[in-house]
Amino acid sequence: MNFLRLSFLSFIFIVGIQTSCSQDNTSSERQNPFNGLAKTINQYKNTIGNTVQNIKKLGYPVEDHQVQTQDGFILTIHRVRHNKVASGKPLLLLPGLSCSAMIFIRWTNSIGLFLADQGYDVWFGNSRGDIRYSKHIRYTFHDSEFWDFSWEELGYYDNSATIDYILNNTNYNQMILVTYSVATISSFALLSVNPEYNDKVATHVTLAPMTIVPYQTSVVMSLFMIHYDILQSWYNGLFDKAKFNHRIMNMVTMHFWPAMCLTFGHSFCKFAMALFLGYSPGSYDENIAVIAYDLSSGVSFKTFLHILQQIEYKEMRRYSYGEDENIKRYGTKIPPAFNMSQVTSPTVLISGINDPGSNPINSEMISRKMPQAKRIILDKTMFTHCDFVWSTDTEIRDYINQKILENINTVTLNPNNNNSGNFT
Ligand SMILES: *[C@@H]1O[C@H](CO)[C@@H](O)[C@H](O)[C@H]1NC(C)=O
Ligand SMILES: *[C@@H]1O[C@H](CO)[C@@H](O)[C@H](O)[C@H]1NC(C)=O
Ligand SMILES: *[C@@H]1O[C@H](CO)[C@@H](O)[C@H](O)[C@H]1NC(C)=O
Ligand SMILES: *[C@@H]1O[C@H](CO)[C@@H](O)[C@H](O)[C@H]1NC(C)=O
Repeated sequence: MNFLRLSFLSFIFIVGIQTSCSQDNTSSERQNPFNGLAKTINQYKNTIGNTVQNIKKLGYPVEDHQVQTQDGFILTIHRVRHNKVASGKPLLLLPGLSCSAMIFIRWTNSIGLFLADQGYDVWFGNSRGDIRYSKHIRYTFHDSEFWDFSWEELGYYDNSATIDYILNNTNYNQMILVTYSVATISSFALLSVNPEYNDKVATHVTLAPMTIVPYQTSVVMSLFMIHYDILQSWYNGLFDKAKFNHRIMNMVTMHFWPAMCLTFGHSFCKFAMALFLGYSPGSYDENIAVIAYDLSSGVSFKTFLHILQQIEYKEMRRYSYGEDENIKRYGTKIPPAFNMSQVTSPTVLISGINDPGSNPINSEMISRKMPQAKRIILDKTMFTHCDFVWSTDTEIRDYINQKILENINTVTLNPNNNNSGNFT
């Protein structure tokens, strides 16, 4: 126990050093002792390309759109319409924690491109914190305000603005929503707090839903849970949260996984990833470094803490700032819970049998709060968290695609008869 605490604190110490040593905020690599490695990683990343380049490379037409949220974030989202069908039903795909839309377009039978082939008007959302696809009208990555968000804000602001933008630009008053991992939590937060969005979401398919996750078998998450109290009080007391977040983003999320994969080799990297997100044959192959890159689009530490709080509370509650601050903000020591009865959009919960977070037990817990939701457990193989988006096995990808399709292809959407505007 002491050993774990010690190693954990060392980790924080190292990150802390990284955070406080460099006063330079324009070139994050200038005083980075791993400069050579960072260079290799950057070269590597440049060869991977971005979402739009990848979609084009696979032969699909793609458009970029800019969505501004009520609180001033500007998100770049993408749209893919296959020419086969003139006016498909709008479908929004939202990626998980620290991921960009890249996870939905890796192969031609990845979820996003498959759905475009099926005639859907597929939109790919990105969230605040993504260093490639988000910015703010006033704040930069160097401002604390930029990073002051958890999955709640992703739901209230990013998801709602994205949904409204899409409905403004299509012939429909409703859409199909497909969310993955942490995006399932932010979407439930929106649908619970702003129930009018239930009318806009005709069907919500959640892949690896993470709303109620008390039964965690991820070794890495368990390690963080053991030290949750230290982490929380340390972060609450941290003066320069922006620098820490920016550094975490740069050093840990952007560089940690690729650095580990390139330095220690793919098998070590697979092992570490399996401790975090679970293992199944075919989850991780030689593309592990690519996966690592997808995993690293930027995230706020507050989002991560809020996920740990969910595990702790065994349900979805507002962000906890500590008892005193909670009383000031919410009037109660423990933050209020989200009311899942407010979520009325038809919901499908699809979990993997071997997912360390979104497993059958947690899925059962969610459906106790949402008895109307349809539950599906994927058990074709040791199905784990990443298999939804990164399985190298093309048959597994087809299997997921069919599961999604059979739950959306009978959905009818209300047309928007008044929208005679400039939609295309
Ligand atoms: C940090 O970045 C901000 C925004 O880019 C800039 O205005 C400021 O001058 C920078 N500070 C330092 C010490 O470089
Ligand atoms: C949708 O269109 C209305 C009317 O043109 C506009 O007021 C609103 O800001 C738009 N919303 C988004 C998210 O684009
Ligand atoms: C939750 O929402 C339902 C449906 O609107 C309502 O009947 C119930 O009273 C709410 N529960 C709480 C605790 O607010
Ligand atoms: C569309 O038209 C209906 C009926 O004519 C009306 O009730 C509704 O408010 C209109 N919606 C918008 C967004 O203008």
